[in-house]
This record gives sequence, structure tokens and C-alpha cells, in this order.
Amino acid sequence: MKRKKISIIGAGFVGSTAAHWLAIQGLFDVVLLDIEEGPAQGKALDLSQSMAIEGVDVQIQGTKNYLDTKDSDLVVITAGSPRKEGMSRDDLLQINAKVMTSVCEQIKKFSPSAFVIVVSNPLDIMTYQAKRVLNFQKQKVIGMAGILDTARFRTFISRELNISVKDVQTMVLGGHGDTMVPVLSQTFVGGQLISTLISESRIEALVQRTKKGGGEIVKLLQKGSAYFAPSRGVLEMVQAILQDQKRILPCTVYLEGEYGYKDIYIGVPCQLGGAGVEKVIEISLTDKEKEDFQKSAQAIQQGQTLLKEICP
Ligand code: NAI
Ligand code: 2OP
Repeated sequence: MKRKKISIIGAGFVGSTAAHWLAIQGLFDVVLLDIEEGPAQGKALDLSQSMAIEGVDVQIQGTKNYLDTKDSDLVVITAGSPRKEGMSRDDLLQINAKVMTSVCEQIKKFSPSAFVIVVSNPLDIMTYQAKRVLNFQKQKVIGMAGILDTARFRTFISRELNISVKDVQTMVLGGHGDTMVPVLSQTFVGGQLISTLISESRIEALVQRTKKGGGEIVKLLQKGSAYFAPSRGVLEMVQAILQDQKRILPCTVYLEGEYGYKDIYIGVPCQLGGAGVEKVIEISLTDKEKEDFQKSAQAIQQGQTLLKEICP
């Protein structure tokens, strides 16, 4: 069977770790592109040699030339600058919007039929910008954040209760930032609602830790941000799409009326399969959750307005 071709733009921590998760499946050839060609080539070579030990035959190429990404089935965008000390979110938006624009112009030229998964921050705004530049169908341009934020919440709940993470079902929706919405009314542990198992004050502590989950890791790492869980989130989405798994996953998708919003990229549950976003799933939310979702949407809309000033 012909292997699918996946290009990863940005061979930094998230990009190279995603390349590893993807390559080890044995189902995908991977192109790792970065503006810094040497590190991209070095990581690709090292990864190829690890596949020799693993006994997996896939091609992994490092490059700075978009011609090598030609006709990719799927492209993952992790290119950009991380937020440095003293830099506001708006500063980061200015820098990464320009990176996103130039990257998407190349994707459009060389892989016009690809699915595109955006990881670069600020995630919701960068995915919106990717869609603007690519002008691909909304089903094919998707942001990764909800899977990561949900994984963090599930981890904290399982540790609190000392039970398997496999038995925690929940979803974190909204924007990827301080306004994200862990949906408590849909949070179950082995069929039992979380509020029947954990006190209100402890739930609030877990919610706050989830919302600040990215920052907690940044502080500990001292340099850079999380990459193992984010790149594993990418694999989950790639498998759902390229293997037509029809998973229900929280992803950042374009809304046209669902949940009462239009012209916005925001995290909601959706069915991911061979056609990309096959369905946006509208789950019922409590009044408080709707209010929190609204605040999150407003924060994203402000970012979108700024984006349009920077990139008219
Ligand atoms: P990193 O700094 O390790 O890697 C970024 C790479 O992008 C660097 O190798 C850099 O040379 C490259 N790059 C910069 N401009 C480029 C361009 N124009 N074309 C090609 N490559 C370019 O950063 P890391 O840790 O890999 O994170 C990547 C992005 O993902 C950041 O924006 C980060 O904030 C974001 N992120 C998002 C998450 C999410 O849940 N959506 C989770 C973790 C990270
Ligand atoms: C995270 O949540 C930095 O967005 C990244 O870890």
C-alpha cells in the first residue's frame, strides 16, 4: 500500500516530536521543513536511523525547500516563534501571523489538495489566518489544541482520584488560552459525574491548573514549551483523518452558525474522518458553560480583529 505523505513545517520541538510519532506508525512518509535546513536534515537523518532499529520502512526527509513537500496528503504547521519573556500575546500574533502567511502561500502552491493541521500559537488566530491564506474548504483546515487541553484535564482528574486516565471522559472547548472551557457537565469518571466524586473547590483547582497547563510546563522547562503531548495530539488527528476513523475529538474548527457563532475558529467537538471535519457536534452546555464559551469566543474575535489590521 502506498504510504501517505505528511509534511511538517517547523522542525522544532513539536515538529520533530510529531515526526517521530508519525514515522513510527510505519504508514506515513514524512518531510520535515524548516528555515534552518541543517537542523531539519539532521533530525530527519537521526529519525531515519531510529527507524532502522525499530524495523520500520518509511522515508523521512529534512529540507528547507517547499518543492520537497509537493503533493503532500497532509501538512502540519508548527512553524513560528515561541512567546519570550516580556512579549505580549499581541506581539506574538504579529510575528507568527507573518510566518503563517508565508508558510500557507507555499502550501497552497505545492499541496493544493492537502489537509492542514495548525499547531502554531496563538492557535485559534493562526488557524483562522491559515484558512484565509489557503482558501481551502473549512473541513480541511483544522487547529490542534483541544486534544492537548483535554489530555491535561484528564491527567489531573485521574491523579486526583488515583484511577486510570482511560476511564476519564471529558472535553475542553473554546480558545487555546486562559479562557478555555473545561466542560464539567460532560465530565464523567466510569459513568459517574465528576461533581459526585470530587469537591467543588478541588474541581476548581483542577480546572485552573488545566487552564494554566501550558504555562506550568514553560516555567519548569525554563526554555521552550510543551511538545510531547502536543505532538501526540497531532498524531491523533492525523490518524482520524488519513485512516478515516470518524473520531469525535475537540478540535479548533471554523463555525458557520454552530453554537451561535459565525466566522470564527474555536475549539468544539467534531467528527474527524476521511473528509476532515465531517460534522461539528453540538453538545448541550449549562448556562455557565455557555457564558464561559461566549467569553472565550469574544477573546478570539478580538484577536481576529487585530489580525485583520496586521494582515488586511
Ligand atoms: P520551536 O521554536 O522549537 O520550533 C519552531 C520552529 O519553527 C523552529 O525550528 C523555527 O526555525 C521554525 N520556523 C520559524 N519560522 C519559520 C518559517 N517561516 N518557515 C519554516 N520554519 C520556521 O517551537 P515548538 O516548541 O516546536 O512550538 C511550535 C509552535 O507551536 C509555537 O508557536 C508554539 O507556541 C506552538 N504550540 C502550540 C500548541 C498547541 O496546543 N496548539 C502546543 C505546543 C506548542
Ligand atoms: C501549550 O499549551 C504552549 O500552547 C502551548 O503548552
